[in-house]
Amino acid sequence: KKIVTVVGARPQFIKAAAVSRVLRKSFREVLVHTGQHYDYNMSDLFFQEMDIPKPDYNLHVGSGSHAVQTADMMVGIEKVLLDEAPDYLMIYGDTNSTLAGALAAVKLHIPIIHVEAGLRSFNMQMPEEINRILSDRISALLFCPTDAAVENLNKEGITQGVHQVGDVMCDAVLYYAKKLEQKPKEAYLEKLKGLYRPAGTPDSWYLATIHRAENTDDPEKIRGILNGLEALDAAVVFPVHPRIRGLVDQAVREGDYRNILFVEPVGYQDMLYFAKHAKKIITDSGGLQKEAYILDTPCVTVRNETEWVETLRGNHNILASPEAEDILQKVMQTKIESGSKKAYYGNGDAAEKITKWIEQESRK
Ligand code: UD1
Ligand code: UDP
Repeated sequence: KKIVTVVGARPQFIKAAAVSRVLRKSFREVLVHTGQHYDYNMSDLFFQEMDIPKPDYNLHVGSGSHAVQTADMMVGIEKVLLDEAPDYLMIYGDTNSTLAGALAAVKLHIPIIHVEAGLRSFNMQMPEEINRILSDRISALLFCPTDAAVENLNKEGITQGVHQVGDVMCDAVLYYAKKLEQKPKEAYLEKLKGLYRPAGTPDSWYLATIHRAENTDDPEKIRGILNGLEALDAAVVFPVHPRIRGLVDQAVREGDYRNILFVEPVGYQDMLYFAKHAKKIITDSGGLQKEAYILDTPCVTVRNETEWVETLRGNHNILASPEAEDILQKVMQTKIESGSKKAYYGNGDAAEKITKWIEQESRK
């Protein structure tokens, strides 16, 4: 049986790395890269470092408005689906690449497998929320990372083909976390490429990433966040997502950010190292919130809500508004309640379970 898998953005490469390794033992997989992310350190770096199979197709769609980007992807994906005639289409998460794959496949009556189904923020201002709801509605097999995700789908009347398998990102963390200490600290620190000045070698650090539309649409919010980070009591390693590069350039021109080490985006294993050994993590990333949880690093999430509600229990994760005072206060106050951690995201076997369910389904 043949599966066409569509990926396009950084977190999807990481998810595909975890799943493809297992899936390819039982299925023929054709990998399509939409080209949504294209910078070397947002794309190729992950394929190389994580041994992700080379994409069979790259649609080179690049950046654009939501409509232009999604439409271009759909045209390219439709052509691949017609040429390849797969038994299934597989999509991950909630990006425009996810929705484009889903829409192209459903009209060709190709059953859709959605990995990371059922996540909801209940905030329809988020492009990701729209992408998720629509993709889930037209998927045939829905692999949920958590019980909360299954419940969300049930409330929307989606009960067929729904399986709780754990989180494939947890698979990735557990697989790579074992290898982290094989290299000395210096080997990681020297990977930090300072954007405005040499990164130096901090003894201890916070780790921060910001890229959500809600935080990056307004320079005032970025200013608030950076001012909060600047006031922290240790250096802040800040890999800059290309979406906010312009805003950070501007802030650095206008302000004096001595405490923040703005660096180029880093590879996955490096990121896990910086996350594991950070004093705390400050982020609006979905993936990083869970990595913080799994690696036992306290997290402050700069958002009004999170899809990963389990992380909030026991103060592993605390929500903050994009304002200096609030961020500072929440970072200082975050203290994990000991004994409160549970394996909400599984035990690292989500990809195995997904493969088994697809095998079972394809025998029907
Ligand atoms: C996308 C996803 C988001 C996900 C994030 C992961 C959507 C709607 N959003 O957001 O859910 O959390 O990826 O990182 O699909 N750019 C570059 N080089 C690149 C990629 C992007 O310069 O390789 C710049 C471009 O100016 C582009 C902007 O970043 O316009 C935003 O990129 P885009 O892929 O549209 O959205 P993300 O913010 O990356
Ligand atoms: N990540 C990375 N290098 C970086 C920043 C993030 O490898 O410089 C990893 C991070 O550890 C997580 C994933 O990228 O595994 C999250 O992707 P992102 O924050 O772009 O998207 P989201 O999860 O919010 O959709």
